[in-house]
Amino acid sequence: MRNVLILFVAFVVSFGFAGTALADGAAKFAERCAACHGQKGEGMKGIAPALKDNKFITDRRAEDIKQVILEGRSGPAKKYSTKEFPIDMPKSGLSVADSDEVAKFLQGDLQK
Ligand code: HEC
Repeated sequence: MRNVLILFVAFVVSFGFAGTALADGAAKFAERCAACHGQKGEGMKGIAPALKDNKFITDRRAEDIKQVILEGRSGPAKKYSTKEFPIDMPKSGLSVADSDEVAKFLQGDLQK
């Protein structure tokens, strides 16, 4: 549980650097998502699901992925049990254009 808290603090702090975001989806993923989902999207036990080889990423429309990035997943939208992943997926705070780039990266290069 302490690790989850440390990650949360790191996450909140990282918002402070949002203005320095780099241009492409891969860089944004490394900066904003990898702390929970892993550098290669491999996921982290008890923190966040893998995004590589994940059917939600490979089989759904980019729009559905963008929605998760923009709105997060909490309350009734939360898909995984709190036993598997106790925390919610937080809203990323990314712009629509940036979310688009990250969604394309998740469906493209991340799956290679
Ligand atoms: C604080 C940790 C954390 C961060 C940071 C985070 N996520 Fe998540 N993410 C989660 C959790 C936890 C879930 C599972 C939520 C649920 O139960 O539905 C999730 C779920 C997802 C899903 C749905 C996966 C599925 O199998 O349905 C996608 C897509 C996703 N995240 C993308 C991202 C992207 C892109 C970023 C960066 C902009 C990001 N996440 C940042 C914790 C995080």
